[in-house]
Parts: sequence; C-alpha cells; structure tokens
Amino acid sequence: MAEPRLRVEQLAVRFATRQGVVSPVRGISFTVNAHETLGIIGESGCGKSVTAQAVMGLLSPRTSRVDGEIALAGKRLDTLSSRARRQLSGRDMAMIFQDPLASLNPVMTVGYQIDESLRLHTALGRAQRQEKILSLLTQVGIADPVRCASAWPHELSGGMRQRVMIAMAIAVSPGLLIADEPTTALDATIQAQILDLLEAIQQQTGMGIVIITHDLSVVARLCQRVVVLYAGQVVEETDVHTLFSRPRHPYTRALLAARPSADSTPKTTLTEIRGQVPSLHALPAGCAYADRCPLAQPRCREQPPSLRVSGWGHHAVRCWRADETEGERL
Ligand SMILES: Nc1ncnc2c1ncn2[C@@H]1O[C@H](COP(=O)(O)OP(=O)(O)OP(=O)(O)O)[C@@H](O)[C@H]1O
Ligand code: SF4
Ligand SMILES: [Mg+2]
Repeated sequence: MAEPRLRVEQLAVRFATRQGVVSPVRGISFTVNAHETLGIIGESGCGKSVTAQAVMGLLSPRTSRVDGEIALAGKRLDTLSSRARRQLSGRDMAMIFQDPLASLNPVMTVGYQIDESLRLHTALGRAQRQEKILSLLTQVGIADPVRCASAWPHELSGGMRQRVMIAMAIAVSPGLLIADEPTTALDATIQAQILDLLEAIQQQTGMGIVIITHDLSVVARLCQRVVVLYAGQVVEETDVHTLFSRPRHPYTRALLAARPSADSTPKTTLTEIRGQVPSLHALPAGCAYADRCPLAQPRCREQPPSLRVSGWGHHAVRCWRADETEGERL
C-alpha cells in the first residue's frame, strides 16, 4: 500500500512558560492518505493549532519541545536538521493559516510572495514564474490576476487574502495541505467557494488535506475521517458517517448535541458544553473530561482511559465506558 501523505505518531508538545512546563499536545497520532481529508475538531485550546504548527516545524526549539514521529510521504521529518526539514516541507507540505493578514508579509506584493516559493522550490525561469503566478491567481477565482499580483495584502478583502494564501499554498503542488480554520472569518458564500476550490484542487492533484475547524458543516462536507481532540489528546477517531450517526465518546456526543439543528441555520458551529476544559497547569490524574462528563464514575477520576479501537472499522475511543453506553441518551 502507498505510504500515507502524513503520518503522525505519538506527537507531544511541551512549552516552557513562566508558570512552569505545559503540555498542550499529549501523544496525538493520525494519518492522512492521498485524496483524503481529515478533520480535526475540538473546543478552543484543545491543541489543534499547536499540533499543526508542530507538524509544520514552526515551533521554536528555544521555547518548546516536540516529541514523536512525523513522516511526510514516508520520509521522517522529526529526525532531519531544521534546514533540511524546511526544504522538504516547503515543497511537499503547505499550510493555510487562520488569519491571512497576519501570515502575509505586509511589505511585499502578493505576486512577490507567491514568487518566493516558486523560486525556492521549482526550476522555473522568471517569465514562466510570472505566468504561473497569474494562472494560480486565476485558479483560486481572482478575477483580475494582474492587478492582484501587484497589490499589497492590506489592499485586498478578507476573501481575496484567503484565496491568495491558498494560491501560495498550492503554488508548488504540495502532497499535503494543512488548513487551520481556513474559512472562519469569511461569509457563507465565500466560505462555500473556498471549500469548492480546495475540493477541486484535491481532485486534480490528489493532495491530502488536514482541516482544522469549529464548523461541523465543513466537516460533513469535506472530511472522510475525523479526529476529536480534548485537552491535547485524541478522544475519538472515526469516519465521518460514524461520527455523526454513532459517536461514542461522551465529549463528542456533547459536541454534536450542542449543534443547532441543520434546518435552523446552515452554519453549524461547535457550541459551549457545560463546565470548563481543565487547565494545562492542573490536568487531572484520570480522564480529562471527568469533571464535565455525565457518566463519570470513581474509576474515571483515578485512572486515565487509553484510546481503544472498538466496533467495526477503525473507530477509536478514549473512554472507560465506551462499550457500555453506546446508544444511551446523555
Ligand atoms: N507558544 C506557546 N506557549 C505556551 N502555551 C501555548 C503556546 N501556544 C499555544 N499555547 C497553549 O496551548 C494550548 C493549545 O493551543 P492551540 O492554539 O493549539 O488551541 P486550539 O485548539 O487551536 O484553539 P482555537 O480553537 O482557539 O484556535 C492553549 O492552552 C494555548 O494557550
Ligand atoms: S472515561 Fe469516564 S469520565 Fe471519561 S468520558 Fe468516559 S465515562 Fe466520562
Ligand atoms: Mg487554533
């Protein structure tokens, strides 16, 4: 079988903070195959962006420590020097950030920024690169690519900037794209266009996509598999159909129950669940969800449950009571 586009094994991230060391990512594993879209969901602070930054190699070694294996199309990244890693990941993996204005360089034109990655990672000459920039901007639905290429980031609307980010990300046809909340700031029409665009590019190139989102309608629309994170750990992983029809972890079930019904609003966002996520400075000894879980038993507070595959297919759940409680109302 072909190597997965991305394989992440027991990824753990620690940060040194003034209050001591915190571990926002605690042993996360997942894989993404060619043509596949994996969704990563969970409440704010559960470690989604830190996971993406660790995979991309964007965390500073001065303030953080990353453990675990990261392999891109079978090649280990975690064992490479940072220079070799940047080279490899710049060509084979790209990321779209939550806030395009913060990630575009304000003092360089859009065209120059796209050109940077073409210069670094392709053998194209100047004229070919110019042509490629215009064709990329056209591909992401920009009506006047010549004008856009010579514009500064602040001259563009939010939707245009997000398209420019996508053009930059796909410039060198990466095998893997990580999109961190790519459409959160955009209105529904532009959001739908961006998702269509990602799907179309995936169909053409077969790239694997990791999409981080709060928006369950995005998950339902794009993803084949979904990882649910809680307090830096995977609490459930399954295919998208099973996620919506037979979620097993009490946290996933609460996330889905908190979702407004499909016909009340087209935008279905993860809403609040009673109680709070535990502090990274005081993680509980047992299950991290115990304080909020209606099914918690004494054992849950004493021993941490491990992630176990249950049922058919690869459906993994981290809960002591996963088998007992299937189908029960919470
Ligand atoms: N550089 C850092 N130093 C210390 N702690 C950090 C750092 N970056 C993130 N964190 C902490 O790690 C935890 C996970 O953050 P992360 O940004 O991954 O959350 P998230 O799941 O992406 O949330 P959101 O949905 O709000 O984007 C948070 O508690 C955050 O405060
Ligand atoms: S292990 Fe216990 S506390 Fe944790 S989710 Fe399962 S039932 Fe709830
Ligand atoms: Mg985030």
